[in-house]
Amino acid sequence: MPRPLFISFEGIDGSGKSTQARMLADALKAEGHDVELTREPGGAPGAEEIRRLLVEGAPERWSPETEILLFTAARRDHLEHRIRPALDTGRTVITDRFADSTRVYQGTTRGDLRAIVDRLHDLMIGIEPDLTLIIDTDPQQALARGLARNSGEDRFEDFGAAFQEKLRAGFLELAREQPGRCRVIDGNRPAPVVAREVLALVRQSMGEAGR
Ligand code: ADP
Ligand code: TYD
Repeated sequence: MPRPLFISFEGIDGSGKSTQARMLADALKAEGHDVELTREPGGAPGAEEIRRLLVEGAPERWSPETEILLFTAARRDHLEHRIRPALDTGRTVITDRFADSTRVYQGTTRGDLRAIVDRLHDLMIGIEPDLTLIIDTDPQQALARGLARNSGEDRFEDFGAAFQEKLRAGFLELAREQPGRCRVIDGNRPAPVVAREVLALVRQSMGEAGR
């Protein structure tokens, strides 16, 4: 059996990741692929409990160091209970956020902690996606889209517009650092237009991997 593809979506809050992850999963399922659509923080019952601690409450509730530990704990639970079992049974995994979010949010934006993020990742997680799709959307537009959802999960949005600008720069820097697996996609276009580009990139990756 060919190794299934592990795909992550990344980007700032409200950039359109969840929409694109859902559209990609639907498109691949329609073509007969076995797909597991999941998200972080969360994606498994224990990790979803940790999620609530992270996305609700006052912005200064946790230090960046504590956040690194909590996000990595949630990721480990997600990996054990959802990602590994899916990949091991030949399913393509699409996750809305993964370790790059910790690298950018905690590692370079909330603090200067990238070395700690990377060490903990190596110790506790140890895998990278085959393909990372970074949805690059204007921060003002993304913030307006995100807050309009009224989700009650706005702890990170509440750090404000300058924070989202820094995050965007962090994701673009990460894409330059890891060109093998990262692709930057212009998210300022209508969702179906973005989705077509996403699908083309995924098909290309599947082709390269002989799937
Ligand atoms: P994220 O997962 O990155 O936070 P979402 O996919 O939840 O973003 O999108 C945030 C909001 O913006 C949602 O209300 C969604 O319907 C809307 N949205 C998503 N993609 C687009 C797009 N390309 N153009 C306009 N609105 C969009
Ligand atoms: P998410 O639900 O994807 O938020 P949004 O839909 O607004 O993009 O993620 C919740 C928040 O957690 C989001 O603001 C980003 C943040 N986050 C980190 O700071 N570090 C991480 O490692 C992850 C996975 C998320």
